[in-house]
Amino acid sequence: MSELHTPHAGDDRAPDIDVVALLMRQHGDIRNLFDEVEATTGDERRDAFRRLVRLLAVHETAEEEVVHPFARRNLAGGERVVEDRLAEEKAAKEALSALDDLDTDDPAFMPRLLQLRADVQEHARAEERYEFTHIRGGTGVTDLAAMAKAVKAAEAMAPTRPHPGVESAAANMALGPVAALVDRTRDAVRKAMGKDG
Ligand SMILES: [Fe+2]
Ligand SMILES: [Fe+2]
Repeated sequence: MSELHTPHAGDDRAPDIDVVALLMRQHGDIRNLFDEVEATTGDERRDAFRRLVRLLAVHETAEEEVVHPFARRNLAGGERVVEDRLAEEKAAKEALSALDDLDTDDPAFMPRLLQLRADVQEHARAEERYEFTHIRGGTGVTDLAAMAKAVKAAEAMAPTRPHPGVESAAANMALGPVAALVDRTRDAVRKAMGKDG
């Protein structure tokens, strides 16, 4: 594999066997969920925001556990690229956690959501350009598939589609705050990679 173009959503590889395709799809799902939160109100917005919180927390945690360590070890200049991405992810998780403490009807909610969206978007673009492109260009199918499997295990913690009917408040409560979700996702990923939590 030698192509070094920046991957785009809709690239024709299977997300099950290519971690880059899978993460690109999640970037698209995250964009769509931001759209959905912005376009809705009331309970619908609350439900869409729950799904966004989950997917974003799960996605960033999976990248931190799976893809960034790989990039750090295997890409030229990987150390620096990964440091920048980790700093952005830390900031995003803190912003997400703070936003999660607000009600979606709070007047402060939407301006902060839009700021988070801009930051997350820029972060995703940097990953695609400086990290994913090079991973795809220089990584064997076995490693791409093994990483995809671990990211899939994380994704199982974050359904992106609405359940039939709006989710119950009890189900949302059971999920707990962002920090707890991050911990559970990390455990699932490590298990999938054959490491102890
Ligand atoms: Fe990320
Ligand atoms: Fe990402």
